[in-house]
Amino acid sequence: MAHLFVAVSILCLLASSSNAQLSKDFYDQTCPNFQTIVRNEMEQAIYGEPRLAASILRLFFHDCFVNGCDASILLDDTGTFIGEKNAAPNQNSARGFEVIDAIKTKVEAACSGTVSCADILAIAARDGVVLVGGPKWEVAVGRRDARTASQSAANNELPSPFSDMTTLISMFAAKGLNAPDVVALSGAHTIGQAQCRFFRDRIYNETNIDPNFATFRMSNCPSSGGDTNLSPLETTTANFFDNNYFTDLMANRGLLHSDQVLYDGGSQEDLVRFYSINNDAFFTDFAAAMVKMGNISPLTGTSGEIRRNCRVVN
Ligand code: HEM
Ligand SMILES: *[C@@H]1O[C@H](CO)[C@@H](O)[C@H](O)[C@H]1NC(C)=O
Repeated sequence: MAHLFVAVSILCLLASSSNAQLSKDFYDQTCPNFQTIVRNEMEQAIYGEPRLAASILRLFFHDCFVNGCDASILLDDTGTFIGEKNAAPNQNSARGFEVIDAIKTKVEAACSGTVSCADILAIAARDGVVLVGGPKWEVAVGRRDARTASQSAANNELPSPFSDMTTLISMFAAKGLNAPDVVALSGAHTIGQAQCRFFRDRIYNETNIDPNFATFRMSNCPSSGGDTNLSPLETTTANFFDNNYFTDLMANRGLLHSDQVLYDGGSQEDLVRFYSINNDAFFTDFAAAMVKMGNISPLTGTSGEIRRNCRVVN
């Protein structure tokens, strides 16, 4: 009897530490074409606008860091509901929601009321990365959608582009991610764009920056005005997923303050250098860190719901 109890306890511990309720084959019987549908829609979207791979990847990050990967970021504000879209890190910045809507419409047509918005976002983010040349990883599914959102958690638990290294490490640690994960996941900035308002202070005021790079970025980011003007987060191939982000950091060409702190005499410099010369290692570690991020406290079992429309609670 004592043995049985010990065995059961150990099994439970294993289960809770590895998200046993998420599995690769969760929809195999109930919506076998789900992954193909997501993939095709992402292909179309990215063909129309390559940046959408980046935008969807960022949505997934902003979903997972706020009360777990539960599609809370997708909920619209209403007269009686305050969501996360107008939290500081998301307002006039988070984008790509229409792509998730289009995917959801197709998935609902194929298997109505079955696949969560949280899983759609997880698979779409992965497919976006693959479609622009990045690594592929298996995404365990079975997440359910939140009936709630938290604007204050979105304001407080997402890192800011003005964060220093200590803050980044502690904000990621709060989500079960370690310092090397901060470096690998920041490599997401190998794709996509940022607005002038997020890097103005860096290009005008910071000293650990390549002066030619700073001058070049100033040409599209005046010292006042032009707040929403875009520049690529990575200098050479911002529509292509590769390790050039790390080469940029080593040349003091990180665009955001929070990028350059990874290579500014801190504890993770060696890892930045390593990724800059070893694309395979970056890909492997990025994929592993994405799996970790995707497993941040999902709703499973009978918690939450399967939203019919990703923008509103059923
Ligand atoms: C380490 C802390 C991070 C900070 C402070 C940060 C901050 C930012 C900021 C300020 C932007 C520009 C947004 C805009 O101008 O509207 C951005 C863009 C982006 N971020 Fe991050 N980020 C971080 C980590 C991550 C992670 C972990 C991922 C994904 C794994 C990610 C993916 C992206 C992508 C792909 C874009 C481009 C989005 C687009 O072009 O639409 N970021 N990030
Ligand atoms: C540069 O730093 C100064 C002093 O902190 C600040 O007043 C100014 O607004 C900064 N300039 C830009 C362009 O951010």
